[in-house]
Amino acid sequence: MSQESLSFQLDGKNIKLPIVVGTENEKALDITQLRSDSGYITLDSGYKNTGATSSAITFLNGEQGILHYRGYDIADLANNATFTEVSYLIIHGELPSAEQLKAYEANLLQYTQLPAGFENVQKAIQPSTHPMAQLASALCALSGYYDGDLAAVTDDNIAKVIGSLQVLVANIQRHINHQEFLPSTGKGFVKDFLTRAFGEEPNDIIVDALDKLLILHVDHEQNCSTSTVRIVGSSKANIFASVTGGIVALWGPLHGGANQQVLEMLEAIKADGGNTDKFIEKAKDKDDPFRLMGFGHRVYKNFDPRAKIIKRASDNVLNHLGINDKTLEIAKRLEEVALTDEYFISRNLYPNVDFYSGIIYKALGFPSSMFTTLFALGRVSGWLANWKEMRDRKEPIGRPRQVYTGEKLRKYVPINER
Ligand code: CMC
Repeated sequence: MSQESLSFQLDGKNIKLPIVVGTENEKALDITQLRSDSGYITLDSGYKNTGATSSAITFLNGEQGILHYRGYDIADLANNATFTEVSYLIIHGELPSAEQLKAYEANLLQYTQLPAGFENVQKAIQPSTHPMAQLASALCALSGYYDGDLAAVTDDNIAKVIGSLQVLVANIQRHINHQEFLPSTGKGFVKDFLTRAFGEEPNDIIVDALDKLLILHVDHEQNCSTSTVRIVGSSKANIFASVTGGIVALWGPLHGGANQQVLEMLEAIKADGGNTDKFIEKAKDKDDPFRLMGFGHRVYKNFDPRAKIIKRASDNVLNHLGINDKTLEIAKRLEEVALTDEYFISRNLYPNVDFYSGIIYKALGFPSSMFTTLFALGRVSGWLANWKEMRDRKEPIGRPRQVYTGEKLRKYVPINER
C-alpha cells in the first residue's frame, strides 16, 4: 500500500484521497472518506471504474489478457491441476497437499448425497422449467434441510454448498429428460457428477474435458454474479441464499447465460445455411438488437486467455470423440471474420470464455439449456472464496448511494381530484 494521495479543492475544502496500489501495481483512489469530508459521492453506472473491494483471490489484467488464481496462471492450472485442487486453492489460498486434497474431496462428496426427502422438492418442479431456475430454487430450499448456523463461515458450510450444487445439477440433467435420479458413486467429484447425470461411467477424455472447463470458470474477480454473492452475503444472509443470488445473476445472457445463447446462435447460423458474413453484418447494425454472443468482455480488451484454452480443448475433445461438429467450423469462421473486421477491432471485441465452451458441453451430451448450470458448478468455488473473504474481513453491508433525479417534495392529491 502506498502513502501517495490526490489532493484537490472542493467547495473550498481541501480533500485528500489516498492512492492504493495492489500487488500487481493496480492503482485506485480511496474514496472511503469522500462523502464525510466533502458531502459528495461518485457516480459510475455499471461500476466501470469502481473497485468494490480489494481482494487477494484473483488477478485479472484485461489489456494483457492475464488471469491468475491466487498467483497461479490460468493456463498453468488448466494444464496441470484438477478441478477440486483448484477449488481448494481458490478458497484456502494455497494448493493442497495430497492429504488435504483427499480430505477436501471426501467432504465435498459427502454432501453430494441430498438430505432425506429432498429429491421430492426437485421432482416437484416442472421439468420444462429452465435449469437455472430449477437450480436456484432447489439450492435455496435446501437451506431448510440443514441444521446449524448456515450464515457462519465454516469449511463445512462451504462443502455443503459445493457438494449440493454437484448433485442438484446432475439431477436437473435427469429431470429435464424425465429420468430417475441416481445415487452417489463416491468416485471423484467430476466423474461422479457425469455418472449421475448420464447413468454411465464416462471415459477419461470426457472427465478431463469437463475438469478443465470447470477450472477455467472457477473465478473471475468482481463480475456480476460474484459481486451479487458478496453483496447478498454482506447482509449476513445464509450461505445457500447468498449463492442462490449468484446463480440468478449468472443466468442473464450478458453474463453466464451467454454460453447457451452462443450455441443457439451457431445452430441458427447453421440452419440458415452457414452464412457468417450475414450475421456479422447483423451484429454491426445498430438498428438490429442482434449481438455476436460470446464476443466482447467488460474487462478483456485484447483476448480472453480462457477462450484460447477452450478453443484448443474443443478441437481435442471433438477429435477424440470422433465428432464432426459443423458448429465448431462455423465458430472458427465467425471468429476469423470478426477479428479482421474494423467494427470488432476498433471496439476490442474478442471471443470470450463462452464462445467455444458450449461446443464441448454439447459434445459431452448436455442440451444447451444446461450450459449455464455447468458454469455455476465451476464458479461456485469462486463465489464462496469471495463470500469467505468478505465475511472474514468483516466488510460492511453493501449499500450503494445514488443521485436522486425525481420529483421534488409535493402534496398528496386525493384520487377524485386527479
Ligand atoms: N456484438 C456486437 N457488438 C458488441 C458486442 C457483441 N457481442 N459486444 C459489445 N459490442 C459493441 C457495443 O454495441 C458497443 O458499441 P458502440 O460503442 O458502437 O455503442 C461497444 O461494443 C461496447 O459495448 P458495451 O456493451 O458498452 O460493453 P460492455 O463492457 O458494457 O459489455 C458485454 C460487455 C460482455 C456485456 C458485451 O460485450 C456483450 O454483450 N457481449 C455478448 C454477450 C457475452 O458474450 N457475454 C459473456 C461475457 S464472458 C462470460 C462472463 O464472464 O459472464
